Amino acid sequence: MILLNPGPVNVSERVRKALQRPDICHRESEFAELLYGIRQKLLNAFVPGAESDYTAVVLTGSGTAAVEAAVLSSLPLGKRALVINNGVYGQRISSILGVHRLGVSEFKLEWETRPDPERLRLALRQHPEVYVVALVHHETTTGLINPVKEIAEVVDSQNRVFLVDSVSGLGGEELDIAGPHMYMVAGSAGKCIQGFPGASFVLVRKGFMDRMKGYPKRSWYLHLPHYYEDEEKGTLPFTPAVQVYYAFDEALNELLEEGVARRIQRYKKASSLIRQRLSALGLQPMLPPEFRSNTITSYYLPPGMTYQTLHDRLKERGYVIYAGQGQLESKIFRVANMGALTEGDIEGFLAAFQQVLETAAVRS
Ligand SMILES: Cc1ncc(COP(=O)(O)O)c(C=O)c1O
Repeated sequence: MILLNPGPVNVSERVRKALQRPDICHRESEFAELLYGIRQKLLNAFVPGAESDYTAVVLTGSGTAAVEAAVLSSLPLGKRALVINNGVYGQRISSILGVHRLGVSEFKLEWETRPDPERLRLALRQHPEVYVVALVHHETTTGLINPVKEIAEVVDSQNRVFLVDSVSGLGGEELDIAGPHMYMVAGSAGKCIQGFPGASFVLVRKGFMDRMKGYPKRSWYLHLPHYYEDEEKGTLPFTPAVQVYYAFDEALNELLEEGVARRIQRYKKASSLIRQRLSALGLQPMLPPEFRSNTITSYYLPPGMTYQTLHDRLKERGYVIYAGQGQLESKIFRVANMGALTEGDIEGFLAAFQQVLETAAVRS
């Protein structure tokens, strides 16, 4: 099955085979070596040239675990976070803060719009209690890229902590983490890194990791300084998904061999092809070109066709697409192009899509 959903993704045979490496104990030197490799490769891939300024904290759990760990660990007592919310994943960060009864200020926007950095600057000047600003890099809800660089500059100039959810961005979109001093960036193994779901991570500026050690511990399982302390000693506080880590390590080898910039180009090429051909078939994209990511395309459903019908007819032909979320559920569909996909896979999908539309036209 070809997966055109934004994770889990199709992985290479090389990554799949890595699952079968020998059984090891996470308190032994073999695991310490594996963990060290993963952490180092994450730094090489995502903060090249600034590896010594950052640390990578690896967790067992999906992307939400990394985001929740970052959010809960980053607030001193009595301080608040401001969440820029223009989609489901921005909303999730607010909900995490809400569940833990931590104060949250929201910068709530329509899902098709992007935040204005100058409005954020004003809001931060008016709210000294805001300590952390959280933003989703790539809002998977619609495939929208947020202006992360411009927001980072405002956050930095206002001396706040910038927390970025790049769970669906890292590996697929450019992100200068070290330049504008992003403090925390959450990511996942199972999307553009092309590993399996079940392992995630947070890239943290070292100076900030030291500061977090003094902040309240709000979760037993997801307290980042606890992970950091153990990972520096070559282990983890809890039993890790060892086999998923083997595959994560191999996926990082593949990423570094391909090169992050070249992977981004490969994804960009695939999404351009999808967009060109679906538009030629008369479909209407949801977002303007300048907002679109390299890995997700949102289109309005073809007139007269439900998502379920479109999905089922494509799945019969071997392709899985993705539904809209929330208020977009009955309006749009999403096509992702993350993962170990070839040009032939994309061409096959486009041919299947055309066939589905033609068959529907004959039937009506
Ligand atoms: C931007 C973003 N953040 C967080 C998540 C949550 O990741 P997970 O489903 O792996 O917990 C996702 C998942 O799609 C996402 O796209």
